[in-house]
Amino acid sequence: MSSAPATSAPSKPSMDLSYKQQPDAQNLDHIPGEYGMPVLGKTFEILTDMQKMVMDHSVRFGEVSRINLGGQRGLLVMGPENLKQIYLDPERNFSTEMGYAERLGRFYKGGLLLRDFDEHRAQRRIFQSAFKNQAMKGYVDVMNPQFKKFIAEINPVGFHFFPFIKESLLKAVAKVFIDLDDISADADKLNAAFLDINDALTAIVRKDIGLPWLKYHKGMQGLKVIHDFVKKLIIEKRAGNGADMLSFMCKETTESGNLFSEEDIVQHVSFLLFGAHDTTTSALTHIIYRLAVHPEWQEKLRAECQALGKEQLDYEDIDKMTQMDNVFHEVLRLHPSVQLMTRRTVRACEIGGYRVPANTMIYIPTFFNHKLEKYWKHPEKFDPDRFSPERAEQKGHAFLYVPFGGGPHKCIGMHFANMQAKLFLHQFLLKYRFRTPENYYPKMMYVPLPKPIDDLPLFIERI
Ligand code: HEM
Repeated sequence: MSSAPATSAPSKPSMDLSYKQQPDAQNLDHIPGEYGMPVLGKTFEILTDMQKMVMDHSVRFGEVSRINLGGQRGLLVMGPENLKQIYLDPERNFSTEMGYAERLGRFYKGGLLLRDFDEHRAQRRIFQSAFKNQAMKGYVDVMNPQFKKFIAEINPVGFHFFPFIKESLLKAVAKVFIDLDDISADADKLNAAFLDINDALTAIVRKDIGLPWLKYHKGMQGLKVIHDFVKKLIIEKRAGNGADMLSFMCKETTESGNLFSEEDIVQHVSFLLFGAHDTTTSALTHIIYRLAVHPEWQEKLRAECQALGKEQLDYEDIDKMTQMDNVFHEVLRLHPSVQLMTRRTVRACEIGGYRVPANTMIYIPTFFNHKLEKYWKHPEKFDPDRFSPERAEQKGHAFLYVPFGGGPHKCIGMHFANMQAKLFLHQFLLKYRFRTPENYYPKMMYVPLPKPIDDLPLFIERI
């Protein structure tokens, strides 16, 4: 008989799950705020200028206010102390699964962010080995040659940074996560499937009525392609010695010593692709934008890279890139990739002195804390030195700087994202000097991900 651990049945949470069947709370009239237009609420304001809408609400109604976003009534909650209560959630009042159910639940059910409490804690174990130092070292060796190739293939004529980095990062994560070669036929099929799912997340018709041209239908088909593909790989990964994330996940065991079920693995990998890709794409796009319009910082980072005297970073070099690190954090302070996090209350509780009913949607705009004048010096200014050890403004409150969230659901990939950004930036800065067109002032969009609407046109020059 084989001594391999048995496979667990799909996990079954123990707590009372009736909160998942309840509709959203509607009567929040005792809390100050404004729902906005009938049905759509403030959706238009979110799409056009989310930051302005949130700041306006905070000035008029304070850190807790009622609102309607995308047809869901709920509370806009901001401020470091309120976020501390929600993220740490010692009384288990806040469900992430129900917070994200409407937006992501149809496509990413079973992903880590769509699991609550004990079940979530038990499932997070699946990533244990995948993010250990040894594994991360291996990912560096995989990504460096890929970035070298993508950067060498750049055509400077009419170059737009956003589509370039989006495609490059999708290929990079497919290689790191499941060891998929970017030139294989499977890569094209999976990339297309993944993009179809992302498109479907913003579909107006959110039901599969079988019409093949509708975004939602295409998204569902895409999901099936990815699930089937990953499922087929599981046996092979369990038997092999791969150093990709899926291989680590396939061999990880639950608290009771069983392997995770196929279904769990497939759901986690799909969500991982989603959670890792757009977020880092948005971050790198804004980093390059800021470096293009602040040439003094571009030169400072280039000098840091040149001082190392290497074409590519090794894993051991990642922490040495301190100026780059400060730029990374300053950009995520000003342009957090996840602009709005969501939760839903499991039971009645109190937030900021207000009584909040059970099943109330909670909307957390990350950037609000990132602009508080009480803690940040000239918060609108691009000033990476604020993250230097001498100033360390982010330490003003433990829940002041939250681009990766906090508490049990804090981003599991934040070191990976930081590392990936540095690997790319190092090679790009050594190869190219870049700037935006004259008098460039981009209009930003926030949904489905924050980025300049025009995809960031760049003039780039070989060094
Ligand atoms: C700059 C890049 C990234 C940003 C800004 C970011 C941001 C976040 C945030 C804000 C959350 C928590 C959401 C909440 O609490 O509501 C989160 C969760 C998560 N992120 Fe990231 N992320 C990034 C990159 C990545 C990468 C590269 C990976 C994987 C390699 C990843 C995997 C995940 C996963 C699995 C979760 C769910 C964690 C849980 O529920 O326990 N993220 N991320």
